[in-house]
Amino acid sequence: MKAKRFGVSLEEKLLKDLDNFVKEHKFPNRSQAISLLIRKNLVEEAWEKNKKVWGTLVLIYNHHKRELVNKSLDIQHDFSYIIISSQHVHLDHNNCLEIIVLSGKAIELKKFSDRLISLKGIKYGKLVMTAT
Ligand code: NI
Repeated sequence: MKAKRFGVSLEEKLLKDLDNFVKEHKFPNRSQAISLLIRKNLVEEAWEKNKKVWGTLVLIYNHHKRELVNKSLDIQHDFSYIIISSQHVHLDHNNCLEIIVLSGKAIELKKFSDRLISLKGIKYGKLVMTAT
């Protein structure tokens, strides 16, 4: 996307803080850092306002726990309207990795993920949300 320039006035102290932030995170320039900060803020605001967001839920579990697998499938069918796709990888003899791509209201994504992550036997679970 084409970048547009605009003027920003900042207090000296804030500008200094921004430059430290740029240095610490090794941004190529201030514009990149400011873009990230704005986007981060907008994602948080979208979450709060409950706009449509995108998310990825990553799960790791032992597939020998059949009850867990059944419950997970039940929950996924209950929330089928926010599931775009899912990918299952058999990591080794015991462990499975599941990546579920989601789209919908932030609160729904959170509710769905919390229910899955809290199932007994889930070894790892994390939801990452983003907005365009
Ligand atoms: Ni598997």
